[in-house]
Amino acid sequence: MSAVRVRVPAKVNLQLGVGPIREDGYHDLVNVFHAVSLFDELTAEPADGLELAVEAAPYSRVAIGRVPTDARNLAARAAVLVASRLGVEPRVRLRIRKAIPVAGGMAGGSADAAAALVACARLWDDRERPALARDDLMEMGAELGSDVPFALLGGTAIGVGRGERLTPALTRGTFHWVFAAADGGLSTPAVYAECDRLRDAAGESAPRPSVAEDLMTALATGDAKALGAALANDLQPAALELRPSLARTLNAGRDLGAIGALVSGSGPTCAFLAETDEDAADLAVALDGAGVAEQIVRAQGPVPGATVL
Ligand code: C5P
Repeated sequence: MSAVRVRVPAKVNLQLGVGPIREDGYHDLVNVFHAVSLFDELTAEPADGLELAVEAAPYSRVAIGRVPTDARNLAARAAVLVASRLGVEPRVRLRIRKAIPVAGGMAGGSADAAAALVACARLWDDRERPALARDDLMEMGAELGSDVPFALLGGTAIGVGRGERLTPALTRGTFHWVFAAADGGLSTPAVYAECDRLRDAAGESAPRPSVAEDLMTALATGDAKALGAALANDLQPAALELRPSLARTLNAGRDLGAIGALVSGSGPTCAFLAETDEDAADLAVALDGAGVAEQIVRAQGPVPGATVL
């Protein structure tokens, strides 16, 4: 096998219900993931050792300087994990072309890890030993990070536990999104910690999250307006506390006609829902003009998870 190329989507959380902190430091979640058509591409090819190169996709303004290119990179760790599972040496050159914002709340690092799992499993596939099954990749994904299994699965899915235990959700049609993409600046652990702190300060105990029925109905009926009204992110107050300027970004999107607006995951990317493709185009142009974000990107969802090209 000479080279394997994999395309993998970003995600937005349609509902992020954060429950109590667990003994292992993670929070119990109800996490409705939705994969959107903003893709990273990863190529894996044979090499003398483990090599990693990262570049920005054409026309994207992704801050690739923030991506570690050593063994800490989640894609490199994924390659090492697949190699050890198969009992081979991780002799692979990974090349990642990024369009997903780095540390932006759209699971870009998890996406790259999912792509590396799929690419390396294919690259080292050999008739001499049993191939890795989809479930093996999902299990290795969960070991690497809470959002990695969903990047393998794609579509729209409900994640519970840390977010890694997934059930696909029924959806109809296509939803049109505009993202005010922002790279970095909000660390996921810091946003979760701020969420805990805000709840403590308000004397609130963490609720046990449950799936929002109105959200699931909106998805199943393809009702964009109802979906916009049902979007919810328990991490949003914490992200706004740590990055107050995000309130202006969210308000700008609402004022310019978005039918739903929320911080994506732990942020700082903000996601806006539009009713039609044309509305999304208008909203993107208007948001760009408002100057509230580094980059405005349109995308549609749901789309499939990590796919070999
Ligand atoms: O699993 P992952 O490494 O992607 O998680 C990054 C960080 O996000 C964790 O270290 C933890 O601080 C926080 N997190 C959490 N509860 C979850 C998922 C993530 O507190 N369910």
